[in-house]
Order: sequence, then C-alpha cells, then structure tokens
Amino acid sequence: MRDILDSLPDEDDSTPLAAQLVLDTRRRVSLDGQQFRKPAKTRIITVANQKGGVGKTTTTVNLAAALAQAGLNVLVIDNDPQGNASTALGIDHRSGVPSVYEVLVEGMPLADTIQRCPEFPNLLCVPATIDLSGAEIELVSLVSRETRLRRALDVYLDDRTSQGLPQIDYVLVDCPPSLGLLTLNAFVTGREVLIPIQCEYYALEGLSQLLKTIQLIQAHLNPDLHVSTILLTMYDARTNLAQQVASEVREHFGKETLKTSVPRSVRVSEAPSHGQTVISYEPNSTGALAYREAAREITERAAAL
Ligand SMILES: Nc1ncnc2c1ncn2[C@@H]1O[C@H](COP(=O)(O)OP(=O)(O)O)[C@@H](O)[C@H]1O
Ligand SMILES: [Mg+2]
Repeated sequence: MRDILDSLPDEDDSTPLAAQLVLDTRRRVSLDGQQFRKPAKTRIITVANQKGGVGKTTTTVNLAAALAQAGLNVLVIDNDPQGNASTALGIDHRSGVPSVYEVLVEGMPLADTIQRCPEFPNLLCVPATIDLSGAEIELVSLVSRETRLRRALDVYLDDRTSQGLPQIDYVLVDCPPSLGLLTLNAFVTGREVLIPIQCEYYALEGLSQLLKTIQLIQAHLNPDLHVSTILLTMYDARTNLAQQVASEVREHFGKETLKTSVPRSVRVSEAPSHGQTVISYEPNSTGALAYREAAREITERAAAL
C-alpha cells in the first residue's frame, strides 16, 4: 500500500480537480478493506444541532454505514419524526411500524422495534414514523419523560450482554431540528454529542444556545454528556466564507473538530432517494470517502483518549 501511495503525484493547487483526484485516491487506498478499531465499551453519540438542514441526518447515516462497513456493530436511533434517517437506511417506517414512538410513549422494549439495514447486516436501526410527531406533546404528561429513551437503550444493551450477543460498538442518535423533549431524551441517552456545522454565515449563531443547553443537561440529568466531536459539513473550499467559518470553528473548538470536513457533493444528496447511504451507493465518491475518513478519525480519537 505504501508503494501505491508513494507513486501518486503530490497535490498541486494549480489544478484543483487533479488535486482532488489524488486526494481521493490516497484516501481510498488507505481506507479500502480497513477494519476500524472496536471501542472497549459502547460509545453512544447524539448528533444534534437545532438548526435544520445542517447535515445531522446525512452525518448520522453515513458515519453509521462507514463504521459498519469497517466491521463495527452499529445501531442508529432515528429520533426525528421526519424519519429521514430511516429512509436513507432503507428501513420501513410507515405509520404503525414499531418505532421509537412506541418506545418513548408506550414503553415498548427497544429490541421489538429494531430492523436490520439491507446494505449492511451489522447496521441496526430503530425507525421513526410520522407517529413521533405527536410525541413532544404526549411526553409532557408522562413520568420520567426525559429519561425514557436512555432506560430503553440501557435495558437493550444489558440484555445483549446477558444473552452473550456481540457488543454494539456505536449507537448514533439522530435528532430533530429543535431543543424539545425528543432532543432532550437524546441528550440524556448519549454520552457524547456530535455537532455538524454547515460552513455558512449563520453557522455559529445558534451554537452558544446549543452549548448552554448541553451544559444544563450535564449539570442536571447526565453528568457524562460532553461535546466530543464537531464535523464541518457541506464545506466548499472555494468560497472565502466557508474558509472563514471553518477557521473560526477550529479556533474555538480545535480539540473537538475533526480534521476531515465533508465537501458538498451531489452523490451525498442523491443517495437517500435510492434508500441508500452514499457509503454503499458510491463508496469511492468524494463525499463517501470524506465520511469514511471522518468515521475512522472518530474511532482513532477514542483510542487515543
Ligand atoms: N455533503 C453534502 N453534499 C450535498 N448535499 C448535502 C450534503 N450533506 C447534506 N446534504 C443535503 O442537505 C440537506 C440537509 O441535510 P440533512 O442531513 O437532512 O440535514 P438535517 O438533518 O440537519 O436537517 C439534504 O437534502 C441533504 O441531502
Ligand atoms: Mg434530519
């Protein structure tokens, strides 16, 4: 592999397209067939940002698929009534299908809602159906309304252990674009928060509110919660604005921000309409390679901690 990498020409700023090809080839050669390191215990990551359209769902499903492709056992919990993560993973989520709604509101065991992603046998998903759209209101009157998802997940993970089933290595929870009870449940469930940030003008505006909310949850409901990861999404290196936002984020959150950023890529936005992640739809496209590399970075940082 070293030989192949060494034989590639150096990237050259004068021809961006050629440079991208070289970068992609390097990434592909070093990622193909690689198994990622398993964490000692299950890592539970909540993907949140109260802004819509910043890449939460895209990040959740593609990181999950990249981790699964590299040999890890992954569970995605789709906690957004829109059910976009379920769609992208090719999971049935018509109204009435057992889903996170039944778990949260009716106390159904998580195990009874889990489906297997057709692309990757080791990628599991708890779907969201349209029924979840009423849950914000229904949850208000229920006891321990903030901890219902966490309890259900704890029971599921413990049951797997006692049944001798393989460890789930990563749980990724996709959130709706708000800071209501659904997101609250996800924050109480997760130990880590991953914040996708779209490199555009308003990107940093909502961030302080998000961080304040996370601090409150940490103080009152979940002492383990912390922002472990920030991922720059839909990054367009050709615009000054994107570069400015990116450097500002890295300045403030140098430790949390992944080295890999995800470029804007048509393949990434097309994949969901085929009920697929870009990881299986077009594994060697620039966007897929970025998500695969970001996933590897997440697994390696854990090992370094
Ligand atoms: N890297 C990318 N390149 C191109 N389009 C993207 C990329 N990431 C996300 N998108 C598109 O942007 C839109 C919003 O992304 P999504 O993940 O649904 O955001 P959120 O879950 O935060 O609302 C979707 O149409 C998605 O396909
Ligand atoms: Mg979404």
